[in-house]
Amino acid sequence: MKKLFAVIGDPISHSMSPAMHNDLFQVYGLDAHYHALRVRPSDLKDAIKGLKAIGISGFNVTIPHKVEIMPLLDRIDPLALSIGAVNTVVNEGGDFVGYNTDGSGYVKGLLSDIPTIIDRSVLIIGAGGAARAIFFTMAFEGAKKIDITNRTVSKAADLIDSCPYETNSDALEIQDAEAELGKYDIVIQTTSIGMSPHINEEPLSLHFLKSDAFVSDIIYNPLETKMLQLARLKGANIQNGLNMFVFQGALAFEKWTGIFPDTERMKRLVKSQLG
Ligand code: ATR
Repeated sequence: MKKLFAVIGDPISHSMSPAMHNDLFQVYGLDAHYHALRVRPSDLKDAIKGLKAIGISGFNVTIPHKVEIMPLLDRIDPLALSIGAVNTVVNEGGDFVGYNTDGSGYVKGLLSDIPTIIDRSVLIIGAGGAARAIFFTMAFEGAKKIDITNRTVSKAADLIDSCPYETNSDALEIQDAEAELGKYDIVIQTTSIGMSPHINEEPLSLHFLKSDAFVSDIIYNPLETKMLQLARLKGANIQNGLNMFVFQGALAFEKWTGIFPDTERMKRLVKSQLG
């Protein structure tokens, strides 16, 4: 029987996950289909019951349900539990088990372009949900020197305090991070600055950026944010948010099927959908 997969969220009509996963099911010869399902927040509990009743094999969870879904699941993986958000659910013998592949997808995507994050000096810009998944996963993987800067610096400090994995991290005001930028090997941009309507803005000045730094932005629409353009002009190596999107999907696909898929193919497909 055809296996069912889905992504639940609200709004969901612009999700590129169905195209990405359905293409992979076809490529790997799997009898499965992936649907985008709009689930309003007030319907989340009923929706999860319904998905269980129909025996869905797995699903992704996106905004606004990544946190609220947690008490509705049977089990949660320890890293997802510490991050406090789930983006992938696997039906394991009738139990819904929650995982977070956002942080691990980010790190795997990063490591497809650079050899290591251990012993690198890292600056994360932003302290929201995405920064949390990335920071905790990097700390879990053993990176120690990860500083965080944010418009609201207290949120960066809270993020560092709440991390269950040992780090040697500081929370910095934006202007202090700008002044100290020369000491970072890797700079990771996680805020919405660079995305519409902030398309012509960058979250901080790159004046002191090292020319051999690696700069990564989790935004993929546009493919090159203002910050990435400026970093490229300074000679830095850059990476856009396609990697995180594709690798979080690839890790979800692997959890559901046991196959780690062709991420270059996935990137080409998402790029073609972006136009
Ligand atoms: P996500 O889940 O995508 O990370 P989020 O949890 O809403 O989204 O976090 C948004 C991040 O972008 C935060 O770091 C936020 O900074 P504050 O904590 O100061 O709000 C940052 N951000 C959003 N809009 C911003 C703006 N106009 N200028 C600077 N930072 C901004």
